Amino acid sequence: MCGIVAYTGKCQAVGILIEGLRKLEYRGYDSAGVCLQDGGKLTTIRAKGRLSELEAALHGRPKLGTTGIAHTRWATHGAPSEKNAHPHMSMNGEFAVVHNGIIENYALIKAGLQAEGVVFQSETDTEVIAHLVAKLYKDSLAQAVADTLAHLEGAFGIVVISAREPGVLIGARRGSPLVLGVGESECILASDASAIVEHTQKVVYLDENDMVEINGGEYRITNQARAEVRREIQNIGFSADQVAKGSFEHFMLKEIFEQPEAVINSLRGRLLLDSGTANLQGLNLVQQELRGIKRIIIIACGTSFYAGKVGEYLIEELAGIPVEVEYASEFRYRNPILEEKTIVFAVSQSGETADTLAALREAKRKGATVLGICNAVGSSIARETDGGVYLHAGPEIGVASTKAFTCQVTVLTLIALLLGRMRRVSADEGLRICKALQAIPGQIREILAQNDQIREIAKQYVDNRNFLYLGRGFNYPVALEGALKLKEISYVHAEGYPAAEMKHGPIALIDADMPTVVVCPTDALFDKVISNMQEVKARGGRILAVTDSENGHLDGIADHVIRVPKTLAPLTPLLHVVPLQLLAYHIAVLRGCDVDMPRNLAKSVTVE
Ligand code: G6P
Repeated sequence: MCGIVAYTGKCQAVGILIEGLRKLEYRGYDSAGVCLQDGGKLTTIRAKGRLSELEAALHGRPKLGTTGIAHTRWATHGAPSEKNAHPHMSMNGEFAVVHNGIIENYALIKAGLQAEGVVFQSETDTEVIAHLVAKLYKDSLAQAVADTLAHLEGAFGIVVISAREPGVLIGARRGSPLVLGVGESECILASDASAIVEHTQKVVYLDENDMVEINGGEYRITNQARAEVRREIQNIGFSADQVAKGSFEHFMLKEIFEQPEAVINSLRGRLLLDSGTANLQGLNLVQQELRGIKRIIIIACGTSFYAGKVGEYLIEELAGIPVEVEYASEFRYRNPILEEKTIVFAVSQSGETADTLAALREAKRKGATVLGICNAVGSSIARETDGGVYLHAGPEIGVASTKAFTCQVTVLTLIALLLGRMRRVSADEGLRICKALQAIPGQIREILAQNDQIREIAKQYVDNRNFLYLGRGFNYPVALEGALKLKEISYVHAEGYPAAEMKHGPIALIDADMPTVVVCPTDALFDKVISNMQEVKARGGRILAVTDSENGHLDGIADHVIRVPKTLAPLTPLLHVVPLQLLAYHIAVLRGCDVDMPRNLAKSVTVE
């Protein structure tokens, strides 16, 4: 989705802005632009397509100015084009704005401005902001922006500059994040800390309805009532190296390989071997409240939803508490029943997904306790929940989520263990789960060591246009996630199904051109899944099996077998998902797809 970077300080802004935008590329975009303030003049340069197009447009032009704003746009109102790219300008060229989010009442504002003679240059909702600020400006940009905000409805993060106030940036957030990086005599304002980390570790996460006025290295934050407020300066908590690809060809591959370390970080300090349980202080619930939970609802989108589905199986199995997992986009507009002692978990890597945020607000409105399972520290979901558990997976840049999934499942396992030990899990069993969890990172490493073999297997499937993914029990959601990975990055159609449901429809599709990927750990349903494989084979379908079975029997049924180490049944998703991530990655690379920036997708979906 859209990205914002703004700079004011002693250095020439353009290089800093472009580098910042590069760090936000992973979010997905279709055009980009910058506006530089050089004394009393604003210069705006924009281009459709990738950042290289913007750099080409900048080539040979004077790039002066120590203050500027920049943006990567992911089209919502109006097609991707140069004229719809941000920054947008007022008619007199004195005010420029970059904007993330959606101005819901823009059509009404636009009609009013047009009636007053304003001529619009773009089809965007954003342009109304530039014209409104110009109209309302008297002698203070901060005041003009504050007055403009009063007219806007919707969710947004904006930054405005003016030719009339050199060195001044005004930023405001309502529903879309803005982070202020505080350097030595310079400030960077961005929608994501990744664009700041190279310059400073010191950041301030703006709160809802905050506005920040920046002048050189000085800043002042005001709240909705425009009263000055103090916001804590925090440490970003990750390094510039962590948002660089290093020696890997793609972020996605790097993040797949980071999973052992990421899981270690998710587990750190959270396993209590003495009592065979988990220590999750961040939930902010006392023992009595944890024991009293009668029902759990998990709300999430995309990969986080599938992690939530694994959580459903885990919590019901270990703790015996009924769990429902619901798409946040559905939950927010239904009239969900939230009885007393129901706990809602909002699962989100970015902590900024608009639907998940809206769903959690709806749950809170109805009086539920809402807890977060987030990766991004300081994110909106993390801040608006009553407590929660951070993944500590480190920044995830690849659009296709990988390490966040394994860490979400790890954290959900810890929650299931904690709740289970208060109910039906014995100390012995709890200890067994703790020890099995400790072994997971090493076992993931063993799977990663098979990367070359998995690439060879991928070559056998690169020309197929449709795939079926099957799994059961704990690994049904893993089949869904495996299919999603393939769809997202290789644009190949893939459907995930519970294995036994195949006979109720998808079996009609099976032929030599439609391979089936089967996730089949040697659990209680192993033999039943083998029967499903026989059914595929009998219809001439090719089979790729991912299993922990050492038995050669499978080799006679499946065309290809990827073996993973054995673990306890509830933990099998943590291992069986890894070959599916690698399979999707290699198929996408072999098909020549842009793995880290798949078409039409965004890493963090901050609009409905
Ligand atoms: C987008 C991303 C997915 C992600 C989903 C939910 O669709 O492309 O990878 O799973 O959003 O994101 P969240 O940050 O809430 O986990």
